[in-house]
Amino acid sequence: MRPTIGKGRLNVDDSCVSCRCRPGRVGDVCPCSGHPKRRKRQEHAGGRNCSRSAGNGERVAIVEADPQGTISKWKERRGHPDPRVVRVADPAEIEGALVSLEAEGIWLTVIDTAATNNALAMHAIARANLCLIPVRPSPADIEAAIPTLVAIRRLNRRFAFVLAQTPPRGCRVSEAAASLNSLGVLALPYVGQRNDHQDALGAGLGVTEFAQEGRASEGVRELWRWILKKLGEGSRS
Ligand SMILES: Nc1ncnc2c1ncn2[C@@H]1O[C@H](COP(=O)(O)OP(=O)(O)OP(=O)(O)O)[C@@H](O)[C@H]1O
Ligand SMILES: [Mg+2]
Repeated sequence: MRPTIGKGRLNVDDSCVSCRCRPGRVGDVCPCSGHPKRRKRQEHAGGRNCSRSAGNGERVAIVEADPQGTISKWKERRGHPDPRVVRVADPAEIEGALVSLEAEGIWLTVIDTAATNNALAMHAIARANLCLIPVRPSPADIEAAIPTLVAIRRLNRRFAFVLAQTPPRGCRVSEAAASLNSLGVLALPYVGQRNDHQDALGAGLGVTEFAQEGRASEGVRELWRWILKKLGEGSRS
């Protein structure tokens, strides 16, 4: 079926991503893919939302700071230990979660917050190496992102807008992109409106697992490369 976490780990059909052998259970480390993984400095990406894409064999976790619980429900449907999902209800719990995930060898933690500037979101922003603000191409969504942007600026954090659920045609995307570019950095590419995203969420999968070769996966992989580059730039400065 669809590959998941990357080199040294297994696809959801039990075959190794690197060499396609079938050494054992889903999530096991492939014995033939080589060396123990180098431990990298843990990065935290946070802000209004999260990307559920996985990296290149790096261990990823999600801290869910949104009481709506969309990610925990997704994780229940997933029925697989990766990625780790930790729910937090109090700002102080975020710090504890980040410390224990780092001790577990997690390299990237994505903190998903509600679309408000409540105390949980403020704490997540303060701890994030890069804040991602998903915005749909509508004036109301752009307006709704302003309080988050103000908070990010006040806390002097690095950030980018992610234009999400963009329709395949029409002028509203370019208008929204122009507005967001005037407010700050806009990540590329935009995330198009596609059924694969909804179906993956419903199936407890990442979109790159649900439809590996689909256009939605292609876009998410490219966006992930953009985000990774930004994270790298931040760790050098
Ligand atoms: N690119 C997309 N194409 C189609 N549907 C999408 C896309 N992105 C998200 N959705 C759908 O929109 C709904 C909300 O998505 P998601 O939970 O990612 O957004 P959110 O910003 O976290 O929302 P909330 O503010 O409610 O937490 C879900 O049903 C999801 O499947
Ligand atoms: Mg959400």
